[in-house]
Amino acid sequence: MFETLKPLPMDAILGIMTLFRADSHPSKIDLSVGVYQDEQGRTPVLPSVKRAEQAILAAQDSKTYVAIAGNAAFNRSIEELIYGKDHPALKAGRVSTVQTPGGSGGLSIAGHLVARAKPNARIYLSDPTWPNHQPLLKVAGLTLDTYPYYDYAKHRVDFEPMIARLDKASAGELVLIHGCCHNPCGADLSKEQWEALTQLCERRGLVPFIDIAYQGLAEGLDEDAFGVRLMAARLPEVVVVSSCSKNLGLYRERVGVASFVSANAEAAKLATANAANVARGIYSMPPDHGAAIAAYILGNAELRAQWVKELAEMRTRLNSLRRLLVEKLAARKTPMDFSFIAKEHGMFSFLGITKEQVIRLREEFHIYMVESSRVNIAGINHANVDRVADAIAAVLK
Ligand SMILES: Cc1ncc(COP(=O)(O)O)c(C=O)c1O
Repeated sequence: MFETLKPLPMDAILGIMTLFRADSHPSKIDLSVGVYQDEQGRTPVLPSVKRAEQAILAAQDSKTYVAIAGNAAFNRSIEELIYGKDHPALKAGRVSTVQTPGGSGGLSIAGHLVARAKPNARIYLSDPTWPNHQPLLKVAGLTLDTYPYYDYAKHRVDFEPMIARLDKASAGELVLIHGCCHNPCGADLSKEQWEALTQLCERRGLVPFIDIAYQGLAEGLDEDAFGVRLMAARLPEVVVVSSCSKNLGLYRERVGVASFVSANAEAAKLATANAANVARGIYSMPPDHGAAIAAYILGNAELRAQWVKELAEMRTRLNSLRRLLVEKLAARKTPMDFSFIAKEHGMFSFLGITKEQVIRLREEFHIYMVESSRVNIAGINHANVDRVADAIAAVLK
């Protein structure tokens, strides 16, 4: 039967990775990767994670299953991280949360749960969005649609067209919103825009579906959750998916959550039971290790403080690299104004150059990025930033 399967085109990012590996130039630069890198180009295990792992290894006396909904201490700690300890929805018992294999697993479980409650529900995705949103939510049974999000010419959120599109959506339809550090464009909603979007959801009965995969990497743990907390306080129903891949560096451990704010505590119980039942039918039980690490760190005051510091170092590095790149490009008097890069957040931004210029960067300067000109800011460091800026200035001439 397998010979009937169709060959697939190479994934854009994997294609760039293959070209990068094949390039023998000694100082080639990879700005296409999707993970955080430090000044030395490594993606290290956080020291707080190492300490937690040692403690877990010493204390663990069983490998029996955890539970379908995952590690309860982990779920409570992540709820507090997302919503804030005293959030009214938490106090009212309106929040239910299940541990999932990464944010991707969270998107899948949340998508399936929504489709179970409302078959073929329509969900509007930002244009552009993280390319995995489409397959994950389509397979879950949702009907995909889009709303304009990024103005490529002005390098900012295209807010009026976004609102105009969503103002035509029907009650009960969902809107996928990036909680912070929009992937791929880096342009986030301002507080005023979150407020306006909340009012629109209230007025039209839309349900936000917030993907917050980078909490703590834009402005701070609480600051980055502003939109989620606002919507969860004001709207009857909100879907939230979060990931520990980036802010705890737990990528391969596969840990995240799907969290549901329901209209009342009774509905929240139904959401928990059904989300667990959905998981049962897909992978049965979540992996343990990543959630055990996160729960240990978040539940231990000293380790938590250490992690908050390590997270702040990653965030500060990203934000200062953004400013550094803008300064370096300005010093080269490029015809394009790149100051928008310093206003954006997280790991990604579009440089806003053409596909031909991206190819020249790769072929003439050994600098790799996806054709959309999305770059991973964390791939830049003090040793390569001048070469990056020189090369960008050269292809813009
Ligand atoms: C926007 C967004 N959502 C979700 C994820 C999920 O990541 P993971 O499944 O590794 O936790 C990512 C990872 O790149 C992402 O960029």
